[in-house]
Amino acid sequence: MNCYQLLQDPDQAVVKQQLNMLLGDDHPQVLENLRREADQVRHRQVGDTVHIRGIIEFSNYCIRSCRYCGLNRSNEEIHRYRIPPDEIVETAREAAAMGLKTIVLQSGDDFFYTREVMADMVREIKKTGMAITLAMGERPAEDYRAWREAGADRYLLKFETSNPGLYSLFHPGTSLDIRLRCLLELRELGYQVGSGFMIGLPGQTAEILADDLMLMRHLQLEMAGVGPFIPHPATPLGVKQAGGVPLALKVLALSRLMLPRAHLPATTALSSLERDGRRLGLTGGANVLMPNITPLEYRKLYEIYPQKAEVTDTPWDLYKATLELINELGRYVAIDPGHGLTPIK
Ligand code: 5AD
Repeated sequence: MNCYQLLQDPDQAVVKQQLNMLLGDDHPQVLENLRREADQVRHRQVGDTVHIRGIIEFSNYCIRSCRYCGLNRSNEEIHRYRIPPDEIVETAREAAAMGLKTIVLQSGDDFFYTREVMADMVREIKKTGMAITLAMGERPAEDYRAWREAGADRYLLKFETSNPGLYSLFHPGTSLDIRLRCLLELRELGYQVGSGFMIGLPGQTAEILADDLMLMRHLQLEMAGVGPFIPHPATPLGVKQAGGVPLALKVLALSRLMLPRAHLPATTALSSLERDGRRLGLTGGANVLMPNITPLEYRKLYEIYPQKAEVTDTPWDLYKATLELINELGRYVAIDPGHGLTPIK
């Protein structure tokens, strides 16, 4: 069975049918075959280097009400923090000194950090030579433009689900169309664009997951993050079941087959459900790790879901563990910034 070739069929109906079949078959052998194939495609298409992106979660304030997320504005149990811009820049400088090539600045949708404040920060951090990825949610196109002009290289904005009904259910007051418009704007501004979705959301079917994977390819993403849904008790979806690890691994493998040249991380959500998640991710399609380098005093407060991995280790310890894992797997730490790659024909 060569799923990779089948999934490259120009007829989208064939691709969809193939995805449906693979997602609907729980046999462990199907997962193992997909993981092996994804590993081979990863090796051929993006090589054996692993890109390390240091992530700073700089604010857990959020104006949105996403029904799965612990940062949603109605959650009053959470202690909110904002890291002052000069401390963010300092943390980024330390990351550069450790050897990181990319810094990811992530927050809730928090307009406290204005267009100008962010642009200044981006300019300052760019002086270190690192690539900058922003993940700050939906903002006016003018904000995206100013940050791009200030030197931001990439933007992460997950579409979370490709199903418009489920999207509206989980994101009150907004719509999938708005999210897709933001992704288009980012693309037009010349960002390398990352998106993705959650696996195992309540109400999600194999068919919806197949559509998620098709949308991911349609968007021609340079980066794609897929991770299991994890219920947070202080949210409306808190009593629901978590996404399954085998299904998450299957979707990761399929993501590699759908987007052969994309940068795919072994996500924190996966390692939060499964101790060996980062290793399983890297051996099943992923080529990126994103150690959390948020200063420790804030780290555990960024609780998008409970039992989040990596909340107690120092940035240096996490970075070291990341290097060790890459070594152990016989892979190499990338020395380049790991920008988006163009397709090999
Ligand atoms: N479980 C898993 N992932 C979550 N995210 C937010 N809440 C949860 C949850 N309960 C993910 C979303 C979001 C990213 C920052 O974290 O995909 O885009």
